[in-house]
Amino acid sequence: MTINVALLGFGTVGQGVYETVQTHQHELSQKIGEEIRIVSILIKSQDKDRRIEENVQVTTSFADIFKQNRIDIVIEAIVGCDPTYNYVKEVLSQAIPVVTANKELMAKKGSHLRKVARENKTTIAFEASVAGGIPIIRVINECLQINRIEKVEAILNGTSNYILSSMRENGLSFKTALADAQKLGYAEADPANDILGWDAFYKTMILSDLIYGSQPDWEQAYRKGIDNVTEKEIKAAENEGKKVKLIATLSKAGGRVVHAEVKPVKIGPDHPLYSVEGVDNAVSIQTDLAENLVFQGPGAGALPTASSILQDVIKAALRNRSVDSKVAQVL
Ligand code: NDP
Ligand code: HSE
Repeated sequence: MTINVALLGFGTVGQGVYETVQTHQHELSQKIGEEIRIVSILIKSQDKDRRIEENVQVTTSFADIFKQNRIDIVIEAIVGCDPTYNYVKEVLSQAIPVVTANKELMAKKGSHLRKVARENKTTIAFEASVAGGIPIIRVINECLQINRIEKVEAILNGTSNYILSSMRENGLSFKTALADAQKLGYAEADPANDILGWDAFYKTMILSDLIYGSQPDWEQAYRKGIDNVTEKEIKAAENEGKKVKLIATLSKAGGRVVHAEVKPVKIGPDHPLYSVEGVDNAVSIQTDLAENLVFQGPGAGALPTASSILQDVIKAALRNRSVDSKVAQVL
């Protein structure tokens, strides 16, 4: 038996997953006990050259994916909610587990999709949707269960942090630094979401769902990106011994209402996120028991994201097997 996977999207993330399934097949199959095979890939444009083995179905038709092979797991690596919301809903309603990297989808439709998954006795996993290669969702869900999380401060957009670091350390212009981030696959195809703070905002909303069980009213949550941060402001901060960083803050201190904001902030060396540079993300979590924890690592890029996605794939595959074996025992 193999675990047959359909991959929706073959951009930076999709290619990273495809490559990693080849380079890390040994590790994957050791953990799962079965081989993982990407059997179908959904793309949008037929005009691109792609390095995909001949026996893999490459299609622009979502429906065709389910006609050719049995599909055990779907990995979603497209962008935004349209058409992904309908695709993911359809997959879950067939009781097939979904692994997604899509933060906009999870921020806007996550609670509904989790409900659809539960109703169909399957799962939707989204580790890669927040902080790229850092396993922050697992930490929150599985490692801090009895802690009260008082506040989270985080750098959640790799592109913005990369741009700010490149402007400060290498004297690059905003435009050049953004072009570099696009070339490296960190920025979204339309980088507006990155530089206007939306990407970090979506990730903050996903964390809010996980930590506090709800999101604040989006109208009340302040969001400002780095698009207006100037070289002069970065220099002036440096002269004060500080750095400008795009910081997301989430808290429920003392009240019932979740407070969230994303904005560029000047921080000094005493701040836990001061030394986070380049494409790295970091999440500083203040808890009542474990005290202050900081998690740092690459927040974007093909392979760190593939790492998070494939960890979710392992979990989904193992869960499928345990569900199957329970069914077999009953029979
Ligand atoms: P890309 O823009 O590089 O790739 C998107 C892929 O989706 C392309 O292969 C594109 O097809 C395909 N696609 C777009 N629209 C459709 C459609 N309507 N039907 C079928 N396929 C479609 O994006 P990324 O790989 O960078 O990102 C994918 C997802 O992962 C996004 O949600 C992103 O926010 C998230 N993410 C990205 C990270 C990164 O470092 N880049 C890190 C963590 C999460 P085609 O190739 O034909 O154009
Ligand atoms: N564009 C995103 C970023 C990708 O730069 O952080 C990772 O979610």
